[in-house]
Amino acid sequence: MAESLGIAVIGAGMAGKAHAAAYRTASTLYNPVLPPLRLVSIGDVNAEFGSLAARRFGYERHDTSWQAIAEADDIDVVSVVIANSLHREVVEGLLAAGKHVLCEKPLSDTLEDARAMADAARAAEARGTLARIGFTFRRTPGIAYIRELIRTGVLGNVLHFSGRYWTDYGFSPAAPMSWRYKGGPGSGALADVGSHLTYVAEFLCGDITSISGGRLSTVIGKRPLPLGAVMGHDHAAVSDTFEAVENDDYAAFNAEFGTGAGSFEVSRVAAGHANSLNFEVFCENGGAKFDQRRPNEIQLFLNDGTGTENGYRQVILGPGHPYIAGGLAMDAPEVGFGQNDAFGYQARAFLEEIAGLPENDSLPRCATFDEGVRNMELLDAVAASALNNGKKITL
Ligand SMILES: NC(=O)c1ccc[n+]([C@@H]2O[C@H](COP(=O)([O-])OP(=O)(O)OC[C@H]3O[C@@H](n4cnc5c(N)ncnc54)[C@H](O)[C@@H]3O)[C@@H](O)[C@H]2O)c1
Repeated sequence: MAESLGIAVIGAGMAGKAHAAAYRTASTLYNPVLPPLRLVSIGDVNAEFGSLAARRFGYERHDTSWQAIAEADDIDVVSVVIANSLHREVVEGLLAAGKHVLCEKPLSDTLEDARAMADAARAAEARGTLARIGFTFRRTPGIAYIRELIRTGVLGNVLHFSGRYWTDYGFSPAAPMSWRYKGGPGSGALADVGSHLTYVAEFLCGDITSISGGRLSTVIGKRPLPLGAVMGHDHAAVSDTFEAVENDDYAAFNAEFGTGAGSFEVSRVAAGHANSLNFEVFCENGGAKFDQRRPNEIQLFLNDGTGTENGYRQVILGPGHPYIAGGLAMDAPEVGFGQNDAFGYQARAFLEEIAGLPENDSLPRCATFDEGVRNMELLDAVAASALNNGKKITL
């Protein structure tokens, strides 16, 4: 095991700060078996964002180029948390420099680049360098628990999945132009939040075998340029110069799984739903519902045959459910947790794998770049279906 691990995060934006915080807490989760962690650098081309995040989260310094991080001898592990179109260059550069890389989803903005990144990841892994992708919602206790209920046969085979990831960061026409509104068909809401929803769907229900009924819509055609740098979904001050929105505000599609069928809807214009990943999954023996706005609970229906008393029940999640026991400083029932905790579990899982802890003694491993490619193939199929009047695309 390494004597210590030096850590950097590239991107000090909305999700970069979640990664920066997660590496701070990773060694405080569960048993103290990780090597000492050194929080070394936050890399951001915006020096103000980088400097502020480094001071806030206790990193030794900040850098303004990814190359400085690639060249630094005191850095072993890097999260890449910048615009999707920048992932390939930065990830490939870091892997070539021998850094372990955790890349944000979606793997890239094009399938071609994602496949090249997966090739680079396989080559790096042969040299002992890990590349993983952060599908954070697999760390969400309620989602991991529903998966267990399906896999262990309590719920049994999935018959029908109905999922939505509604966000509203773009519902106001005054929301500033940003990298999220640029790119080809399917690079908008579908890539941004549809990547999460499709990953969760396959995590629960197994492989999607075909996509049909694809629909992509841009409902706000232009957006004002911001006057300064914009972070995440911030509604910054804007100028009176507008640029065209290139990609989807809304996407919908249907899917077939090995054992069931599903429908999906994603949006960035769903006013009032800032971050609503919500789904219902119907199985042989009952059903379950999850809503990210209430991450501490699931709704569970088990068909126990008593007829008139059957119905959904609320299950409050706690130490008996995935991730919680030892995974919160105070892990008592009904203490509560949220999306930031999932980034902590993700960082911990990545560091456990890098540190060489046996898989059986570790959190479930992070997803591989090949899984990132698979996810982009699904998104690509949705876009292809949408561009062909909803045609069925077999995967
Ligand atoms: N897992 C999740 O829940 C989750 C949530 C949000 C975003 N994301 C993903 O994280 C990534 C970043 O999204 P975000 O919302 O944090 O973006 P953001 O716009 O808030 O932040 C991006 C940051 O990157 C910086 N930057 C731009 N070019 C750079 C470069 N060449 N080198 C270094 N820094 C550079 C910007 O200055 C900015 O601070 C995306 O891939 C997104 O899909 C994941």
